[in-house]
Amino acid sequence: MALTSRSTMLISMVIFVVQVSSAQECSNYNFNQVFNSCIDLPVLQAHLHWNYIPSTKSIQIAYRANQTSRGWIAYAINPSGPAMVGSQAIVAFQSSNGSLVAYPTPITSDKPSMQPGALSFQVSNLSAAYANNEMTIFAILGPLEDAANVSHVWQAGDSVENDIPQPHATSGPNIQSMGIINFIPS
Ligand SMILES: *[C@@H]1O[C@H](CO)[C@@H](O)[C@H](O)[C@H]1NC(C)=O
Ligand SMILES: *[C@@H]1O[C@H](CO)[C@@H](O)[C@H](O)[C@H]1NC(C)=O
Ligand SMILES: *[C@@H]1O[C@H](CO)[C@@H](O)[C@H](O)[C@H]1NC(C)=O
Ligand SMILES: *[C@@H]1O[C@H](CO)[C@@H](O)[C@H](O)[C@H]1NC(C)=O
Repeated sequence: MALTSRSTMLISMVIFVVQVSSAQECSNYNFNQVFNSCIDLPVLQAHLHWNYIPSTKSIQIAYRANQTSRGWIAYAINPSGPAMVGSQAIVAFQSSNGSLVAYPTPITSDKPSMQPGALSFQVSNLSAAYANNEMTIFAILGPLEDAANVSHVWQAGDSVENDIPQPHATSGPNIQSMGIINFIPS
């Protein structure tokens, strides 16, 4: 009995610490627009900010991650589950003409082309920004099938050649960067 309540207390404390640290990170970040929800993702120094739009079952997102100006970032929803293949991704990087580009690209194999292509859901209001060693993707995604239970995947790579993002590392954080998320605010 005593043991059980002690473990319960320990678990509550751990949850409390996690909530406080996430409150200190992403919720202190200010954009020009308001995002009502955010989460500090566990790897790749990445943060997801979003608004759930009930009328269209869509999400307005800002995906923000540490990166150099030579690298690329990607944020994806995978309707087939938490995995790379099947991911409906948005990728962003600095184009050879100097401007930041962002476009949708479906990940159809473990050696994807990373060329622009249509996703299984609508993408609009897409843009990207770079500031303070961070790259950010802005987009509206959806309608989503079940916004309460979404498999998402995020990624980063060090280099872009001829405007094509080059393969990312295949160990450590780069293969841990996926999970399940509930976009509907409680
Ligand atoms: C974040 O990115 C910058 C620039 O690429 C790098 O210098 C820095 O080490 C990164 N931060 C961490 C904690 O890795
Ligand atoms: C959430 O989605 C996953 C597949 O991505 C599925 O296995 C799981 O059963 C779903 N959970 C709920 C509560 O719908
Ligand atoms: C830069 O290149 C991208 C494609 O890589 C293109 O979409 C964009 O319009 C170009 N911008 C300028 C200013 O030429
Ligand atoms: C998305 O883009 C449309 C057309 O440019 C604009 O009217 C709308 O306000 C944008 N939505 C958001 C949430 O920024």
